[in-house]
Amino acid sequence: MLYSERMRLKADELKQRGHAVILAVESSCDETAVAIVRDGRELLSNEIATQIDIHALYGGVVPEIASRSHVEALDPLCDKAFEDAGITADGIDAVAVTCGPGLVGALLTGVSWAKAYAWMLDKPLIGVNHIEGHVSANYIASPDLEPPFLCLVASGGHSHIVYVDGYGSYSLIGQTTDDAAGEAFDKAARALKIPYPGGPLLDKLAETGNDRAYTFPKPHTAGKYDLSFSGLKTAVVNLTHTLEQQGKSYVPEDFAASFRKAVVDCLVEKTMLAARDIGAHTIALAGGVAANRLLRREMEREASLMGLKFYMPPVTLCTDNAAMIGSAAYYRLMKGELAQLDLNAQPSLRLLMKEERDV
Ligand code: KG4
Ligand code: ZN
Repeated sequence: MLYSERMRLKADELKQRGHAVILAVESSCDETAVAIVRDGRELLSNEIATQIDIHALYGGVVPEIASRSHVEALDPLCDKAFEDAGITADGIDAVAVTCGPGLVGALLTGVSWAKAYAWMLDKPLIGVNHIEGHVSANYIASPDLEPPFLCLVASGGHSHIVYVDGYGSYSLIGQTTDDAAGEAFDKAARALKIPYPGGPLLDKLAETGNDRAYTFPKPHTAGKYDLSFSGLKTAVVNLTHTLEQQGKSYVPEDFAASFRKAVVDCLVEKTMLAARDIGAHTIALAGGVAANRLLRREMEREASLMGLKFYMPPVTLCTDNAAMIGSAAYYRLMKGELAQLDLNAQPSLRLLMKEERDV
């Protein structure tokens, strides 16, 4: 029997049981991660090898170095994941991997590794969209959270407001028309000479700054729930350059605080507007930018003022990890959505929206 046919039968069995332990791999950017997740909600182990120190030497992610580091890290991380979970490969029901979006070489390392592993174990393979993974981090953090809910997903490459109307089922409400929120944080950090990784360090610096020291133009977008950050980023770059050329000093903490507030105000305002218009009762936060201290405080505060239930993952599950991939994969598996051994890296993979399915 062909691998694809054998896996179909195994997936049907798992679906009927409703239970699955999934070994998940994430390698889309600069973190190598392996996790073991039970039933989409329970974390048995969660390993991450960060490459920050390596890329910091170059001031940003070097794709070729990221790929090579993933290759070196995957096997030892997998061993560690089994050790921490206290199980062996026999206890795994399926293998999941991020297949996009991300850096093509980085994605390929994880996809190739996971394909080989699934083949070796003779277990089903599940390809996971990285953005869906970010949304699913909330399922691990909050066992009581179930769709429907509105989710703000803000990361280094994407910023979306999506309505999650079922597991793995999304409607796009709004998105950035230019830079992603994380990208804007990173570029503003560079203008302020904050070393890589810019976003988290800018956030830390902002905690002691005056957020009224500088005013930034409020971004305008044609779409009511769309976002735009390139104007804010350019304003920081221009202003810092002008001050430097004039030989004037500025307080980086104040710049960081004012910029952070401008970005967070946009994210919170648009999300809350969408929640109100849609009549959502529950909202959630996801993606690397969800680690931002001010965004977490403001979303929580606004949600409470509006009487909405609010969920967000702990900071460790906001930035890239494999636990979120294992969670998303479980719900894909329960729908019988398997990948085959011809699975490829898809650097520009989009989150498939409800109205785009079945085409
Ligand atoms: O989700 P993520 O880990 O990787 C992508 O999928 O892109 O997000 C990384 C992005 C980076 O742009 C990083 O600067 C930003 O999230 N980020 C933050 C914070 N932590 C990470 N931005 C602002 N404040 C933070 N605390
Ligand atoms: Zn991410």
